[in-house]
Amino acid sequence: MSQDIYPVKPHIAERAYIRSMDEYQRLYRLSLDNPDWFWGEQAKAITWFHPYQSVLDSDYEEVDFSWYSGGRLNASFNCIDRHLPDLGERTAIIWVEDEPGVYRHITYRELKHNVARVANVLLNHGVRKGDRVCIYMTMIPDLAYAMLACARIGAVHSVVFGGFSAEALRDRIIDAKCKVVMTANEGLRGGKKVPLKKTVDRAVEGMSLVEAVLVARRTDTDVEMRAGRDYWLDEECHRQRSTCTNAWMGAEDPLFILYTSGSTGKPKGLMHTTGGYLVYAAFTHRLIFDYHPGDIFFCAADIGWVTGHSYIIYGPLANGATTVLFESTPLYPDPGRYWRIIDDLGVNVLYTAPTALRALAQAGDSWVKKYRRDSLRILGTVGEPINPEVWRWYHDVCGDKRCAVVDTWWQTETGGVLITPLPGVTPTKPGSATLPFFGVKPVVIDVNTSKPLDGNGVSGALCLASPWPGQARTVWGDHKRFRDTYFSTYPGYYFTGDGVKRDEDGYYWITGRIDDVLNVSGHRIGTAEIESALVAHEAVAEAAVVGYPHDIKGTGIYCYVLLNSDYQNGDAEQLVGALKQQVRNAIGAFAAPDIIHIASGLPKTRSGKIMRRILRKVASSEYEGMGDTSTLAEPDVVQRLIDEHKLQHP
Ligand code: PRX
Repeated sequence: MSQDIYPVKPHIAERAYIRSMDEYQRLYRLSLDNPDWFWGEQAKAITWFHPYQSVLDSDYEEVDFSWYSGGRLNASFNCIDRHLPDLGERTAIIWVEDEPGVYRHITYRELKHNVARVANVLLNHGVRKGDRVCIYMTMIPDLAYAMLACARIGAVHSVVFGGFSAEALRDRIIDAKCKVVMTANEGLRGGKKVPLKKTVDRAVEGMSLVEAVLVARRTDTDVEMRAGRDYWLDEECHRQRSTCTNAWMGAEDPLFILYTSGSTGKPKGLMHTTGGYLVYAAFTHRLIFDYHPGDIFFCAADIGWVTGHSYIIYGPLANGATTVLFESTPLYPDPGRYWRIIDDLGVNVLYTAPTALRALAQAGDSWVKKYRRDSLRILGTVGEPINPEVWRWYHDVCGDKRCAVVDTWWQTETGGVLITPLPGVTPTKPGSATLPFFGVKPVVIDVNTSKPLDGNGVSGALCLASPWPGQARTVWGDHKRFRDTYFSTYPGYYFTGDGVKRDEDGYYWITGRIDDVLNVSGHRIGTAEIESALVAHEAVAEAAVVGYPHDIKGTGIYCYVLLNSDYQNGDAEQLVGALKQQVRNAIGAFAAPDIIHIASGLPKTRSGKIMRRILRKVASSEYEGMGDTSTLAEPDVVQRLIDEHKLQHP
């Protein structure tokens, strides 16, 4: 493994902020030994209305971390206003529309005017500091305006990915008690229309909580507007001034809530704060993507997920960068779409997910080679483990062996990247996220003994031993859940839910989730959520969901269902279709099961616990090495499941 090392590229090292591995090691040590000094230095990149009193004030017992306490700032001011004197005419956002070849450049000055108008609209609808606003849109500039408008007046945004169903949206609106929902009449994605407003209508039906629905206009399609509740955003904006004062926010005041899935229960609303998050997003964006003024940065994620929050909006804009907002998909209208955008706009950094790269690699090199791509310097990846062969393809074909590949590991909870190479500094190994970022102390815990494993050449559960400014502070409305989920499995450590290997060189290799969370095309989905959607169908008595290897998605969704007796002789095909639809309705199309296995039994221990290990093996068509099955209440079930699997999914 150690032989497969890609040395740093001299032309990238030339302008990197960190000049060598020695300097990285020295600064890394300093960041751990003296975090107050280190994070105090990084906070200087942000404009504070009022200085903070302490860098970190923490109570590990209570899982209470406070960064830059006493400091006052505003994220919208930092992302927009402070750039205006020098960079007012610089493009802040390049909106890449769904239809190829249509680009709209929005300068920092225009961004300010638009954000201020939307902020005034929100104020006019009674939104005040601390109120929550749900944003349910696809990738249009109004989404950026809406987020920054919330930040400007101190409202807390809760962006819900535009692919979620009405039911999922409703749960999130209720959980955060959102007063206003912002959406669009329709979205456009890959040539298809997304009926956003219709979904919102279903989500908020009969809900007195939501006082206003503000509707951006993306297409010409008319939608039903309920008088006294629904308002066209453009009409509302026309009535507003293009200036709006930035609220003075405390460093620890919430900036946003973002929901993510876990092993159990409903998705959790992770809460991120204004000061620490912004410092971390800006600093990581600058170093990891080697941002220099004038660079064009293209993060192809959706803003509905954390990657879009940190590396389309807050990180790049805080740094005064030009950020690309991409409405479409990597395959629309053909697999050359990324590379065409890169040539058209002169993109310097591309940041995408392994699932997209796998689909593109499968489409063949010719789509890539059709374009020059000579502006590219850095190729980033995030969201799931990247297969070494896909890493090499990214490096060799997409980057012509000229670009640095940065495999960045992080999570919704972490706010920004925690394990990553630094371009021009860290030698890379395909498939490894390499080394910790500054201030980050990864620990590998032995899952059997719950003790940290020292030294190299070890694997176990990935935990973090030290706080960092970008970390989520709590689960919205449920601090106990935050503590229980992340800080109780291995007391004294933050548990990530991921498995990891630290190799003989101290490099980290993320092996994937070791809890009941699936990573499907880089989307995080709890098996419990899918199971509860399935059992809500009258035909289903019991359901157990596991992942299995999938060529494009990374992990596919495999559902075992036990039927109620009335349904056992019905039309199986029809039922499978209905169950898939059931999950789409409960969560969204991206969570639709790949395989529904109508099972005659589940492998349960005598105490009734399902042995998921066996289910995973069968789903992956691995029939050997089932391990100890002696505690199963009904050992025959294993062979039956194998036979059914072979029959139903040969
Ligand atoms: O399993 C890890 C995987 O994605 C999970 C976090 O998902 P989410 O909160 O949706 O955030 C995704 C974008 C930051 C992690 O627990 N993951 C993320 N990045 C990587 C990764 N797995 C392997 N390598 C990565 N670079």
